[in-house]
Amino acid sequence: MGGAIRAPTPPGSILGAVDRIVVRPAGPLEGTVAIGGAKNSVLKLLAATCLAPGRYVLRNVPRITDVDCMADLLRSMGMVVEWSAPGELTVSHDGELVPEAPYELVERMRASIVVLGPLLARYGEARVAMPGGDDFGHRPIDMHVKALEELGASFTSAHGYVEARVANLKGTRLLLEFPSVGATENALMAAVLAEGETVIDNAAREPEIQDLAAFLNRMGASVVGAGSSTITVTGTDELGAVEHEVIPDRVEAATFLAAVGVAGGEITLQGARPDHMDMLVQKLGQMGMRISPDSEGLWAMAPGRLRSTDVSTLPYPGLATDYKPLLVSMLTTSNGVGIVTENLFHGRFRYIAELERMGADIRVEGHHAVVRGVEHLSGAPVRCHDIRAGAALVVAALKADSETSIADAHHIDRGYERFAEKLRGLGADVTRS
Ligand code: UD1
Repeated sequence: MGGAIRAPTPPGSILGAVDRIVVRPAGPLEGTVAIGGAKNSVLKLLAATCLAPGRYVLRNVPRITDVDCMADLLRSMGMVVEWSAPGELTVSHDGELVPEAPYELVERMRASIVVLGPLLARYGEARVAMPGGDDFGHRPIDMHVKALEELGASFTSAHGYVEARVANLKGTRLLLEFPSVGATENALMAAVLAEGETVIDNAAREPEIQDLAAFLNRMGASVVGAGSSTITVTGTDELGAVEHEVIPDRVEAATFLAAVGVAGGEITLQGARPDHMDMLVQKLGQMGMRISPDSEGLWAMAPGRLRSTDVSTLPYPGLATDYKPLLVSMLTTSNGVGIVTENLFHGRFRYIAELERMGADIRVEGHHAVVRGVEHLSGAPVRCHDIRAGAALVVAALKADSETSIADAHHIDRGYERFAEKLRGLGADVTRS
């Protein structure tokens, strides 16, 4: 192709200067950052609004693209979804919904699959596009389907969609093969309208499940035991719309903890819930950070170079798989060697090649990564492939000796509100373009 003249890069093109986060060296962090509402909670609360007509008001809702995507999905079914104030989302409908989640939306956000349970429970039918693979590798929905089948639903699948039907959901004992967050949520949202009692054994215990149960109970449901491995639901047909404040995002909080761990300094995470992050706080303590609850939320200090440690992801209360890329970023410049084991989503290691481009010393063997700490990373152009991996690259870049440019930053916008701005508020030199 010698001699070809390159056209100027159009704005918005993948080669252009947009959709990037640029990080320059700036020293330790200092100050207070406000932690927003939990992405992984609000998406499920929005799905639960299918269960009863009326006007719902959700507060502490982060302005992130995954929330926009779920709002689009609810609108496509026939709901009215509006930002009524900063951080406040109002959802209304009259109960006449189209019980369908189209491919264009499920493809944009896999969490859309959680409308399956509530739609089926309320309308006796649901048609939901099957989520494709993503950067986490294969993520099946067999446990969601099995739980709903045991509640009485029958499934067919064709043309990329699963279709579920049921005359009357009937409560029963469900034993989940694994404490899947999504399967627990789908089963829970179906069980609240089922006839009689449902017991979900080996349920996921994440704080977001507890928030969903609190929301459902406020709507009039009877859910007992959320946060433990056994959830008992007594069905009712009298649910109504409510107002609710979303719990704080523990993964966003973890991201700022990782940032101060890498850059050094002392920060306060306003609104964070330390009781949702016990294992992480313990792990970061082993690495040399000082973290303690305070009246505003959580105070954290990193006195110097951290010590390496081993990390193994597990369902809650174990270390969340969503923390893992952040911990890997911390280990890249810690003192010593850390072995990181991923037990939930195989294939969630793609960002490691990007960290290597920044001078990290990491060897991946199956679902383990061996991270040998280096003194400094070197700034480089890198690319992010998903929300947490993207945030982790930004965190790592805080310790680089020169400018790092992180492309495809729209992945980060899926889960973080004003990420660059919040980091700037702590003294980092981070810009979004
Ligand atoms: C949720 C979170 C995600 C987090 C994960 C684990 C949201 C929007 N996403 O995802 O950020 O990383 O929990 O804490 O809340 N599995 C099956 N069959 C199923 C369902 C799951 O084999 O039917 C497997 C998955 O492939 C995975 C494991 O179970 O290996 C855990 O998945 P799950 O807990 O369901 O995660 P999500 O709900 O998809």
